[in-house]
Formats: sequence, C-alpha cells, structure tokens
Amino acid sequence: MSEFVEKLKIIHKRFGIPADYETQFGLIPQREPFDLQDIENDIYGRCQKLVPPAAVAWKQMKNQAHNEQVSLNVVSAFRSIDKQIEIIQRKVDAGQLIADILQVSAAPGYSEHHTGRAIDLTTEGCAPLTEAFEKTLAFKWLQENAQHFSFSLSYPKDNKCGIAYEPWHWAYSEGYVDKKKHC
Ligand code: DAL
Ligand code: ZN
Repeated sequence: MSEFVEKLKIIHKRFGIPADYETQFGLIPQREPFDLQDIENDIYGRCQKLVPPAAVAWKQMKNQAHNEQVSLNVVSAFRSIDKQIEIIQRKVDAGQLIADILQVSAAPGYSEHHTGRAIDLTTEGCAPLTEAFEKTLAFKWLQENAQHFSFSLSYPKDNKCGIAYEPWHWAYSEGYVDKKKHC
C-alpha cells in the first residue's frame, strides 16, 4: 500500500469510513496535481482552478455553449483533500451519518475534484447542486456536446459507485485513465 493511501486510511478511520471503502464504492485514490490553472471565478466569486488541458477544454466548451445561447456557470472545480476533510467534518458536526455523507461526498482522497479535472456546473435560473439541473437546456446541451470536449457525466442515475445522481458534475478525461472506477 502506498504511503499516500496509508495516510488516507488514517483519515478515513477517524471518520468511521469503512476500511473496504475503495472496493465498496469502486472509486480510486485521486492525487492532487502540481499544475493548476485559474479559470473564471465561480458563481460565488471564488477563484477556481483546473489542470491546464481541462481548463482549455472547459473554456472551449463554455464558449461553444455561449455561442448557442446556453449559459454554463462554475459552482466548483479543483478541491483539495484538506477541503474535502473540512466538508465532511462539517456534515458530521451537523449530525449527519457517515453512510449518508458518503452517498453525496467522496471520501477524502477519492473525489474527482482533487484531480483538477472535475467541474460542478449550473446555469442561469437554476439553484446550484440540485437535480433540477437535469431539466435545464444546459444539461441537455452537455449531454449532446460535452463528449466533443472530453467531458463526461461522472455520476449518472443509479451509478455503480453508490454516489447519488449528480447531473451537475462533469469530468475531463482526455489522456487520463481511471482504471478502477466503475461508475
Ligand atoms: N460529490 C462528489 C461525489 C465528490 O465529493 O467528489
Ligand atoms: Zn462535483
């Protein structure tokens, strides 16, 4: 087991995340990249980052959508492992059960957001991170066009990872291999 995974296991144990999390969810450890590039600010005005090839593809995809009168706005992109720990801790502190948390938040070290290739999107008039996004023109546009920019939906309905449906979460994959992920 790599030192990286050993460290994750220590964090997971603290949260009561099952030791066989990786097998159970079919997710793979995701390391943070060294090279992140600023994209635009998100809808809350926070600076957001992606790895350079994903940033280029994202800009092209957003421009193409814009040319077709479809607005795509960023809710969140790169997220560190420390930030994921913070998010999960906040949910635990609010009284949520870890089993419920893991259906909507990947365990620290296993979120695609750590890679700088994942992006959560919304569109004008849609509350961010809600299933309502699937009813929007933006979602329809992404379903038809995202593949041309090497973005795909990571957590479709009834995915095998046991992660709740996330119509807003898209990941860039050109040149990357997600060997064990079976969503
Ligand atoms: N919400 C997704 C699963 C994440 O935490 O990466
Ligand atoms: Zn996401």
